[in-house]
Amino acid sequence: MRFQDIVVAGYFQVPCMAETTKLHRDFVDVLLSLTGTDKLSNSDMIAVLWEMIFRGTDTVAVLIEWILARMVMHPDVQSRVHIELDKVVGKSRALAESDLTEMVYLHAVVKEVLRLHPPGPLLSWSRLAITDSTVDGYHVPKGTTAMVNMWAIMRDPDVWVDPLEFKPERFMTMNEGEHVDVCGFGSDLRLAPFGSGRRACPGKTLGLTTVTFWVAFLLHEFEFRPCNERRVDLSEVLKLSCEMVNPLSIRVRPRRSSVC
Ligand code: HEM
Repeated sequence: MRFQDIVVAGYFQVPCMAETTKLHRDFVDVLLSLTGTDKLSNSDMIAVLWEMIFRGTDTVAVLIEWILARMVMHPDVQSRVHIELDKVVGKSRALAESDLTEMVYLHAVVKEVLRLHPPGPLLSWSRLAITDSTVDGYHVPKGTTAMVNMWAIMRDPDVWVDPLEFKPERFMTMNEGEHVDVCGFGSDLRLAPFGSGRRACPGKTLGLTTVTFWVAFLLHEFEFRPCNERRVDLSEVLKLSCEMVNPLSIRVRPRRSSVC
């Protein structure tokens, strides 16, 4: 079996399986069903699937790790999420995807982590200076490629009050005065962790829903604590995504008796 076949089979359910069950139409089925000018060759399909896997797994995993790191560092925030979960879901059943719409505080927490720890800090709206130019008093020599540093914008003290403070409340409507009403999907450039415009992340809704669901699920089942009282190290390194230099180590305690 070729590598591409393993990737397609492993992540996106092989078409013949879907044929026999007929229960679910998955992403591969949709690609295979395209006709006319939309029809894709096998190699184009593999390229699309590869891009989705390459862009969609690392970002999601890294963001979940940053969120859990912040939960360990800020037990007050973690306990507020626990209270919200117990109110919306309760302890007698597992979390369902539909519960997420009521998790107002958790959504604010996820936004605040995206603001401080965006998995994709540099956006691809790159611009090439074709002549020597001056921008805002800075000399930009011909041939320079300029990129948008979303990481810096989301920590800019001219844009955010107390930019380095972890304060999910800033995204809560009840927080008068300092409340920032931004959706985070690119219409407001103060918070655009998925980029903006035509090259913005096409997987933003899927990515955000996946992350929010897994974080809610984990926090519903467990309490997260520091490992041996070791401080969480927020040092970051830019690889495929902006990761923690030292991977998070934590202790977990089950919150629902059925989990033990
Ligand atoms: C929380 C998760 C995610 C974050 C933070 C994120 C962030 C980003 C960012 C910042 C970009 C670059 C935008 C730009 O350069 O202006 C991007 C591009 C992209 N993302 Fe995501 N992403 C996430 C999840 C996903 C998922 C789940 C998928 C697919 C299943 C995906 C597919 C892509 C693709 C294909 C591109 C390239 C778009 C292009 O170049 O036109 N992403 N993402």
